[in-house]
Amino acid sequence: MPTAYRIAPSILSADFARLGEEVRKVVDAGADLIHFDVMDNHYVPNLTVGPMVCEAVRPHATVPIDVHLMVKPVDRIVPDFARAGANHISFHPEASEHVDRTIGLIHEHGCTAGLVFNPATPLDWLMHVIDKLDLVLIMSVNPGFGGQSFIPHALEKLKAVRKIADSAMQRTGRTIHVEVDGGVKVDNIRAIAQAGADTFVAGSAIFTAQDYRAALSEMRAQLAMV
Ligand code: DX5
Ligand code: ZN
Repeated sequence: MPTAYRIAPSILSADFARLGEEVRKVVDAGADLIHFDVMDNHYVPNLTVGPMVCEAVRPHATVPIDVHLMVKPVDRIVPDFARAGANHISFHPEASEHVDRTIGLIHEHGCTAGLVFNPATPLDWLMHVIDKLDLVLIMSVNPGFGGQSFIPHALEKLKAVRKIADSAMQRTGRTIHVEVDGGVKVDNIRAIAQAGADTFVAGSAIFTAQDYRAALSEMRAQLAMV
């Protein structure tokens, strides 16, 4: 069965003064998910948006909202995002005192749960929680900003995660997505898919394009060649 690849435009690179319109445009252009980057100027050195903006965006997004929490602490804000219409919530293990508890909390609030690995974060955490996760997100930049260059070592990490996810899926029958975030472009998306990703976050590559549909189509054309 061919892999169903998903492209998740990150609204970090959208025009925040016209966010609803930007979300509608990128969904019309074929986005599979809306990637929603939450930064707190504490866990990462930048500040973005919270649950109120997620709630405001929700009616404009006819696809699932993929919330990427770059905040510390994590647990306090999880119920707020669930109430604001998030479908999926990912967090960084370094930002939570109790990783297993946070995964449970996300599920209790009716969302799917993902764990995010920074470029230098070891995959060891996965051994203990893989059977509870719906998604593993590999950062291919250091989190905090859009428009950074893809760190090639992420490809090795993706290969390792793909193996771990595949064996867990075979064992349990549950679906576990492998997502990549940072520096994803038309010219590297194919190699990233070959390394094992099935879900691709792309911010600047889509929102700096004149034509969002063309940008998404070019990425899909590359994925069709995998
Ligand atoms: C970075 C964010 C990313 C960012 C990606 O910390 O998590 O989602 O928006 O932006 P690009 O695709 O421009 O690297
Ligand atoms: Zn992100």
